[in-house]
Amino acid sequence: MIYYANWKLNKKQKDIEIYFEKFNEFDITKQDEICFFVSSPMLFKAVNSTAYPIGAQNVCYQLSGAFTGETSLEQVLDLGVSTILVGHSERRNIFNETNDDIAKKVMLLNAQEDVNIVLCIGERIEEKTRKFEILQEQIEKALSSTKKLNRVVIAYEPVWSIGTGLIPTTDEIEETIVFIKKCVKECFDYDCKVLYGGSVNESNVKTLKSISNLDGFLVGGASLDAEKFFSLIKG
Ligand code: PGA
Repeated sequence: MIYYANWKLNKKQKDIEIYFEKFNEFDITKQDEICFFVSSPMLFKAVNSTAYPIGAQNVCYQLSGAFTGETSLEQVLDLGVSTILVGHSERRNIFNETNDDIAKKVMLLNAQEDVNIVLCIGERIEEKTRKFEILQEQIEKALSSTKKLNRVVIAYEPVWSIGTGLIPTTDEIEETIVFIKKCVKECFDYDCKVLYGGSVNESNVKTLKSISNLDGFLVGGASLDAEKFFSLIKG
């Protein structure tokens, strides 16, 4: 299964060293795919602390130029980072990223060889009754700029579930995963892996793993502690 850790705006150099001193020693099977999404200033430190893949939480839709405060794809690739989160709900809701902004990033990333895109989608609490419509719109708009998808994984993260301890039922998640896969297949003729994210932890992961069609998890809070994240992976 896929286990992606989203560290968000957490961890300084020493924390990263301590984390990987532990995590690197854990015995994780080759079938499990792990990646740690680290904030930009810490990418270099993370890459040099572990052999596990490191991902970026965001990049600019332009490769270079007058974009103060942004991080470019070329810069992260130069560090050996080739998996990029796009459209996380915190980018959408706190930093006002729109589906159009996300589409520009997807276009840039999808055109590069060997870049993996993790596109985050999910409905807000007030959008629950229109969930499928919202998800379809997010998928179609974000991916609209691409003719052929290359290495795209979708992370379904209901916004109301992130960091709250609230989780949809396994039936609801299963139904949503089926919908997302079908939608991507019909629109883009692409077989997409789909992850679930939102309050996944070492206690609930066993139940969530029983969901058929689910390819893995995007984990925030429960990935910040090396031992907790390892027991979630083993769970
Ligand atoms: P959470 O965050 O696991 O802390 O709910 C998930 C995410 O935002 O990707």
